[in-house]
Amino acid sequence: MHPENISDLKMIKLFRLAAFAPLFLPATMPAQSAAIVPFPYEIKKEITVDSAVVVSAHPLATKVGIEILKKGGNAIDAAVAVHFALAVVYPQAGNIGGGGFMLYRDKLSNAYCLDFREKAPAAAQEKMYQDSAGQVLTKKLQQGVLSCGVPGAVDGMYEAHRKYGRLKWGELIMPSVDLAEKGFQITEQEAEGLNEQKMLFVRNSSLMPVFIKMEGWKAGDWLIQKDLGQTLRRIAGEGRAGFYEGATATLILREMEKKGGIITSEDLKNYKSVWRRPLEFDWKELRIVTMPPPSSGGIILRQLIGMTSGYPLKQYGFHSAESIHVIAEAERRAFADRAVHLADPDFYKVPQTTLTDPAYLKKRMADFKADTVSASTDITAGVAKESEETTHFCVVDAEGNAVSITTTLNDSYGSKTVVGGAGFILNNEMDDFSAKPGVPNMYGAVGGKANAVAANKRPLSSMTPTIVTRTGKTWMVLGTPGGTTIPTTVFQVLLNVVEYGMTLPEAVQAKRFHHQWKPDQITMEEGCLSPETEQALQKKGHTVNPRESIGRLEAIMRLPNGKWQGVADNRGDDSAGGY
Ligand code: DON
Repeated sequence: MHPENISDLKMIKLFRLAAFAPLFLPATMPAQSAAIVPFPYEIKKEITVDSAVVVSAHPLATKVGIEILKKGGNAIDAAVAVHFALAVVYPQAGNIGGGGFMLYRDKLSNAYCLDFREKAPAAAQEKMYQDSAGQVLTKKLQQGVLSCGVPGAVDGMYEAHRKYGRLKWGELIMPSVDLAEKGFQITEQEAEGLNEQKMLFVRNSSLMPVFIKMEGWKAGDWLIQKDLGQTLRRIAGEGRAGFYEGATATLILREMEKKGGIITSEDLKNYKSVWRRPLEFDWKELRIVTMPPPSSGGIILRQLIGMTSGYPLKQYGFHSAESIHVIAEAERRAFADRAVHLADPDFYKVPQTTLTDPAYLKKRMADFKADTVSASTDITAGVAKESEETTHFCVVDAEGNAVSITTTLNDSYGSKTVVGGAGFILNNEMDDFSAKPGVPNMYGAVGGKANAVAANKRPLSSMTPTIVTRTGKTWMVLGTPGGTTIPTTVFQVLLNVVEYGMTLPEAVQAKRFHHQWKPDQITMEEGCLSPETEQALQKKGHTVNPRESIGRLEAIMRLPNGKWQGVADNRGDDSAGGY
């Protein structure tokens, strides 16, 4: 792996992009004339610095975080500012209309976990996504106002700041107001993403959203979001009430009314993020601090580490058939547990102690066979799909406070419903419930009773924001989008560093694979395995299929010399910053 080359490639792409950029870039009057100038922001895939780091899916959001840190903000302040900035510059996943999870480890080694996951509206019912014949109504579940959970992001950020922030709340949001009102230039990936969704935005929104450009978006175009700017101003001025009450709430309710949604003013007013106890466990000399339910991510990560740790993976070799067989078999078992046992702990008694018990995990692999796959029964799930829909970012400040946040609209641009007059996209998180036992959701994940739809319940997630400590000090901060591939991606990157001895850039940029029990297959990024390895896996009975890229992992690591290294995934426009 040659990270320098990766960065070079990225710079070449940006250079091409620069050909679309205007000659002058006045801050207040974006122009559209074509000429060659340096693109107004730079993407950095890796940095090594003394004090503080931000890594996010967009260079402008990273820049906002760094500016907040330099102004004297702490990691929480920077994380809040980055979250709002992503809602502007990364609309496919950055959000105020979605939700997520935050892991925070302060300089005194206290770890906290904030769940700002969306909740089902109070009017939601178990069979609301089935027709009278019991068929799942996929469109209703995945698009438009009925697919939306009650957003948690603004409450989450407000709560995190209320407890641990240092700078003034409004100060953290003003950079995003600026980005929304003055606009920013979109990259090739963003242009493609917006163009792909054009008809879905039209169909699912009551007013023509700013995200639609009839002649099509191209790299370098300015995206100006005046309505979103106004919404952010209300949030900056009024706090959580600027979203869950008053003008913004009225606009959400109007969208619900026009399009037939069920979120009410009580749902909005009643939304509350929840502080939870992080899931913590030891691995070698490390301590892993990660996300408990309602995410399945932390438990799966714990299970994968527990189930594979008895095997000499290093000796087997990175991406050898032996290693991949062990990992895939562990993943098969972890996802089988997920389907039955994991859900919102406020609604379902998750057997977390058993599922994470080393003795249980050892027993789980008792029927592992080195030569052949485990018996596969009634495999019916659909094909897992992948895109860049969720987003992860990490912050470490100069005092050593660390934040790891994964946040999402679920699908790319969520429900494709833009709240008319408020300029933000609502999530389609209801698809993370099990709409009907055994019927796969958009990630091919199956579930049952535990994760059935219910009023005020949180849908089961896979998001796995994680912080790893070593000798009591924060050592790594990481996380990724990718639906069900999230925990297996976090696991692979940790394995790459801890077991296979890679540097962080190598570990993050290495190709990935994934197994999730159903469908019964190993999916892998192009070029992940050699043809011989693929054949060896097939001989053991595995089905191996190619897929699009897996995840966009952001990570920060403390190097042996005490410096911080930030690494942004090469699979997108993700960028690291620091000083
Ligand atoms: O909570 C979850 O697990 C999903 N809603 C996350 C979606 C996601 O990661 C999509 N990104 N590729």
